[in-house]
Amino acid sequence: MKEENKAASAASRDGFTSSFGVLAATLGSAVGLGNIWKFPYLTGTNGGAGFLVVYVLATLLVGLPVMIAEIMLGRKAKANAYTAMKTLSPAGQPWWLISVLGVLSAFLIMAFYSEVAAWVFAYVFKAAGSGLLTSDPKVTESVFGQLISNPLQSLLWQWLVLVLMGCILLLGVSKGIEAATKKLMPLLFVLLVVVGVRSLMLPGASEGLKFLFQPDFSKITGAVVLTAVGLAFFKLSIGMGTMMTYGSYFRDDQNIPATAFRVMCADLFVSMLAGIAIFPAVFAFGFKPAAGPSLLFITIPAVFHNMLFGHVFMFAFFVLTAVASMGAMLSILEVPIALMNEHFKMKRSTATWLSLALLALVGATCALSNSSMAGFKLFGMTTFDLFDFMTSNIMMPLGGIGLCLFVGWVWGKQRFEQELTNHGRLRNQGLLDAVFTVLRWVSPLLILIVMLKGLHVF
Ligand code: PHE
Repeated sequence: MKEENKAASAASRDGFTSSFGVLAATLGSAVGLGNIWKFPYLTGTNGGAGFLVVYVLATLLVGLPVMIAEIMLGRKAKANAYTAMKTLSPAGQPWWLISVLGVLSAFLIMAFYSEVAAWVFAYVFKAAGSGLLTSDPKVTESVFGQLISNPLQSLLWQWLVLVLMGCILLLGVSKGIEAATKKLMPLLFVLLVVVGVRSLMLPGASEGLKFLFQPDFSKITGAVVLTAVGLAFFKLSIGMGTMMTYGSYFRDDQNIPATAFRVMCADLFVSMLAGIAIFPAVFAFGFKPAAGPSLLFITIPAVFHNMLFGHVFMFAFFVLTAVASMGAMLSILEVPIALMNEHFKMKRSTATWLSLALLALVGATCALSNSSMAGFKLFGMTTFDLFDFMTSNIMMPLGGIGLCLFVGWVWGKQRFEQELTNHGRLRNQGLLDAVFTVLRWVSPLLILIVMLKGLHVF
């Protein structure tokens, strides 16, 4: 008990041990089902290349600056998101509300994310058998349909995922997260390249490439832009405390803007690879690009069908996707766990199991949203869709606005400069004016306008 509570003091905080470890773990948080599952399906439902262009702009103008700011605040405070905002803001000002919103977002994201991860885990086993080896849309759709409409299977896979997360988390920050992500991320890159090449060789692949790279801006509406901005938040794990919490484990000599830039580029690259793996196959085999959340699961088996060693590759694909989802989930869970551990002085293990138990309950509504609870709707959506919509399109962007306003108007340029340059040790001054101005004006205003327009407020 005493041992564990020591983590609460800054001096003995667990942290990332090497510069590469920092990059790998941050990347491990960013790269996940957002790239492999969400990015392709949203690109598919929102018209393809036009959405991609808006998404890239959102990543640059909003995602990158917010990520830099968020990591910076975490590293400066060396504490969980709540304590960080509390200690960094002037007495009496309620900026800690950003973190409270973040902890809530973390729970809601985990509730549906753990279910998508559950589908991936189930597919690892399906891929090991032979039932998936087909390129017939009807068969792949029915395999997926059977899985999500079976309440017991959906629930058990989700709980299995949660228990697994608990076990990994209890190994601690540096040992658990760093070790797993460092080893397996490069493999995922390589495998996605293989899948992409294979997909490009399919007859009719060019239609898929056109869909992904030839923009048709007529499909861009306010709601589509908000979805793209929301995806940028989700993909980069920002606006809800994850990057702040991870920032608190950063070393003082880490170059924050350089790390954020690398993470952003790599994250975009993985998303593109996933798009290139999926869309040619969608058109080659007659799937619908706008199939929605099922897109990954119904298309990928077709890509591997009739491919040399396709069976092995498909198995590896789902294993590595499962690993990528774990890196992301660990980082989401770290937000409430670090808070309960440090602020409420709860043992790390108690905090972990308490969060997971709560999630087993709330998440169950998402797991059952295609079966027993399909009729249970709030604002016309199942909890799966509602939690996804609320977090990406409302809560994380709001958190982002809060972070921009805090850094740009309260924390101030001088402190920002100190963190940007590691107290003058790095030559990042050239970035100072640009990034600070974007944070102060451009990002918050952009997010606000996009939110109001996307939610039809005007
Ligand atoms: N960025 C992760 C992904 O793309 C998801 C995530 C969201 C992680 C929010 C942490 C915080 O899968």
